Amino acid sequence: MTARIIDGKALAQQVRERIAGEVAQLRDERGVTPGLAAVLVGEDPASQVYVGMKHRASEAAGLRSQQRVLAADTGQSELEELVAQLNEDDEVDGILVQLPLPDHLDPGPVQELIAPAKDVDALNPYTAGRLAVGDPTFLSCTPYGVLEILAHAGVELAGSHVVIVGRSNLVGRPLSVMMTLKGRDATVTVAHSRTRDLAGVCRTADVVVAAAGRIGLITADMVRPGATVIDVGTNRDDDGKLVGDVDFAGVVEVAGAITPVPGGVGPMTVAMLLQNTLEAARARRGLPRR
Ligand code: GUN
Repeated sequence: MTARIIDGKALAQQVRERIAGEVAQLRDERGVTPGLAAVLVGEDPASQVYVGMKHRASEAAGLRSQQRVLAADTGQSELEELVAQLNEDDEVDGILVQLPLPDHLDPGPVQELIAPAKDVDALNPYTAGRLAVGDPTFLSCTPYGVLEILAHAGVELAGSHVVIVGRSNLVGRPLSVMMTLKGRDATVTVAHSRTRDLAGVCRTADVVVAAAGRIGLITADMVRPGATVIDVGTNRDDDGKLVGDVDFAGVVEVAGAITPVPGGVGPMTVAMLLQNTLEAARARRGLPRR
């Protein structure tokens, strides 16, 4: 059997078109144009690409988008001053500080400083805490995108066993919480680098989410025939090509459905950032979120 390949790019396009319609409606009915500010420190090529994609997608959806690019040797207090200024800027509904930051900067205090009402990346500990107690404000963009992909693909989460490989603050940990919330009702195992018999654990899954950042980590023998495989990996191979964590050529022969890299989760991360920014703009003005 060959897996159904889930087209994240096409789904993201649909989501972006819906958001563009809602942004136009908000502008026409309320005179409000949601604004996103993306902060990039340094010249990491991948981060430049990601921030550029977020900027272009925002503008295409009718959002006001500003990129704040700071030199690689920017100090902690200078970065924090910029975030404080964006917190106060009424034209900014969403703030995102692209990760990773240069080594000399500590992302923790920066994320903590972002006003919760503008925390569209959902990396502030307050935002993470609200999710953990089952009353989320914003869902972080990549896990939110994974949930949308699964819903679109008709994958039932309730009662199913999901194995998430990777426990990062960006993906694995928040996704595990989202999936166990009432209404989604998955049984979730979070596997990581110290997990014993990772292959055996993965074989028990109805859904495998690979979010470890290791090329070729998930191989065909680790996937139960017919299972759904979501590849969140964004690695560069020796030729500089974007590749995921899943051995696609092998796993596609076993899985029931699979997301490719590129063209799977990545485009949905961008789409959900726009969604969060729209929701932030509504919430900051006391309008119902959706
Ligand atoms: N770097 C890789 N993914 C992300 C993301 O979703 N948000 C931010 N801020 N940085 C990232």
